[in-house]
Amino acid sequence: MAEEPHPDWRHTRKGTTLYTSLMHYQPITISDRIALTFTKSMRFIADTFFKRRYGHRAVVLETVAGVPGMVAGMWTHLTSLRRMRVGYGPKIRTLLAEAENERMHLMTFIEIAKPNLFERYLVLIAQAIFWNLFFVIYVFFPRTAHRIVGYFEEEAVYSYTEYLKEIDSGRTPNIPAPKIAIDYWKLAPDATLRDVVIAVREDEAHHRDTNHQFAKEYDEQRKTSQSMEGITSNELQRKSNARKFS
Ligand SMILES: [Fe+2]
Ligand SMILES: [Fe+2]
Repeated sequence: MAEEPHPDWRHTRKGTTLYTSLMHYQPITISDRIALTFTKSMRFIADTFFKRRYGHRAVVLETVAGVPGMVAGMWTHLTSLRRMRVGYGPKIRTLLAEAENERMHLMTFIEIAKPNLFERYLVLIAQAIFWNLFFVIYVFFPRTAHRIVGYFEEEAVYSYTEYLKEIDSGRTPNIPAPKIAIDYWKLAPDATLRDVVIAVREDEAHHRDTNHQFAKEYDEQRKTSQSMEGITSNELQRKSNARKFS
């Protein structure tokens, strides 16, 4: 049976043109630079291992891509429970929808490229390492964690653009789209692999923008709390001055 897209996810997809550009967020802080360096090292490993085998690359990397949204969504949910505070719902739903969407990318590409036994073991090891590593990063450095995902998604947009070039050049056959993809993205019945890659690339661009935005929100929160601290210390100073002169 075909799986239904997450309703919130559908709701947040706004069209095609906005998300298809190869946007790059220029690193500003040290945390941004660490996030970019981490991403580029991961990209180097993926490039060395997969080269131009884009179908296999998509299968293995989508198993990793499904992790951050679930970890971040789970941790944000637990944060809301601990603090007994409302206001976390939209973020939790967005993150869980991202994880669900990445899982659907995997379910789609598994129909296109069958992973070999070695790749299946690679996925096991990658998940064991990456889940724990990302969890620790998210708990202690959530802003950096979102920036990492933003950069990962930039690389995903780039890789799927390269995949499109391979299809357009004829080096990768433009086979009919799997049924699961036609149902999920509501593609035309005669849709092809090219249409699927375009739809997936749009999703990745959306994740990229969402995660860079989450990182930005941490900066805004810090600025707000710093200005609040400034107001509070000025207020205390004013009161102590008033007491001195009374
Ligand atoms: Fe993906
Ligand atoms: Fe992604």
